[in-house]
Amino acid sequence: MKTIGVLTSGGDAPGMNPCIRAVVRSALAQNVNVLGVEDGYEGLIRGNFHSMGARDVGGILQRGGTILRTARSEEFRTPRGQREAIRQMNNAGMDALVVIGGDGSLNGAMRLVEQGVPVVGVPGSIDNDIYGTDMCIGVDTALNTIVDAIDKIRDTASSHSRAFIVETMGRMSGYLAVQAGIVTGAEMVLIPEVPVNVEEVAKNVDEAYRRGKTHCIIVVAEGADPGTTEIAKEIDAMDLGFTTRVTILGHIQRGGKPSAFDRLIASRFGHKAVEFLMQGQTGVMVGLNGREMEPVPISVVTSKVKTLSPEYVEMARILAR
Ligand code: F6P
Repeated sequence: MKTIGVLTSGGDAPGMNPCIRAVVRSALAQNVNVLGVEDGYEGLIRGNFHSMGARDVGGILQRGGTILRTARSEEFRTPRGQREAIRQMNNAGMDALVVIGGDGSLNGAMRLVEQGVPVVGVPGSIDNDIYGTDMCIGVDTALNTIVDAIDKIRDTASSHSRAFIVETMGRMSGYLAVQAGIVTGAEMVLIPEVPVNVEEVAKNVDEAYRRGKTHCIIVVAEGADPGTTEIAKEIDAMDLGFTTRVTILGHIQRGGKPSAFDRLIASRFGHKAVEFLMQGQTGVMVGLNGREMEPVPISVVTSKVKTLSPEYVEMARILAR
C-alpha cells in the first residue's frame, strides 16, 4: 500500500481533527502517503485531494470542526456519483480510504466496499447512534457542552421559578438527552425511544411544583414526539405554577474544542484505522468495545440499529424524583 485517502463526512464532530492527525502521522510512520479529501464524498467525486505531511496536521488536536471540511453529498448516493469517486481515486493512485463520519457516511463507505474499494471506517458523530461501537468521536465534548448549558439554564430557571424545555440534538437517538438528564439532575427526559403524552409531562411539572422545586428542567431529544414546541405550548397553557421557556441548544453542541476523552479516542481510532489497513483488514469500522478497539464489518454496522440502554433510561427517571 503506497497511498491512502482520508475524509470526514456528514455532521462534524469535535475530535475529527485529532483523528485526521492520527491517520496522517500513523500512515507516514509506515511510509504510506496520505491524500486529504476535501468536503467528504463531494471532494471524492471532484478529485479534490491534497497531499498531507506531518506538519499539515500540527496544531489541530485542540481545534473543533474538521480541517478537511465536510458535506452531506446527495450525488454520492447515486451509482454515477460512486463511479466517478472511484475513478478519481484510481487516477490519484489512492489505494485505500479512511472514512470518518456517522451512519450516513458509513453507508456511503459500504457502497465503496461493495465495489471493491478497501475502506476502513471511523465512527464520528455526536449522536452516538452507530452500531458496533460504545462511543463515537464527539459525543463526550457535545455532552459536556450540553451539561454546561443546562447548569446555566438552571441558575436562571431557579431565580424565576420557571420550567425550561431544553432541546438536545441526536437525530432519532435519545442518548445525549438521557445522559445529560442524569448528570444535570433534570426533572424529566423525553426521548424518541420512549413515547410519552403531554399529560404525563404535565403531571411531572405539577408534582415538581408541589414538592417545592424552584425550577423544572425537561430535556427533550430532538427526535422525541411530542416535540419541544408542542410540549412547551401545552404546558404553558395549563398554568402549572412555573412559567415556561424554551432553549434549543442547536449547533453549539457540535462545536468547540474536543475534550481530552475525545482527543484520546479520536487518536486511537485513527491510529487503529491505519493499523487495520496495513494488515489488510478492510471493509471494517474501528469500534470501541469496552476498552478495546476492534474491527466491526461495515456491513454489520450499517444493517443494525444501536439501541439505548434501558438501564440509563430507568436511572434518569428514578434519579429525577
Ligand atoms: O448527526 C449529527 C447532527 O448534529 C444531528 O444530531 C442533527 O439532527 C443533525 O446532525 C443536524 O444536521 P445539520 O447540521 O445538517 O442541520
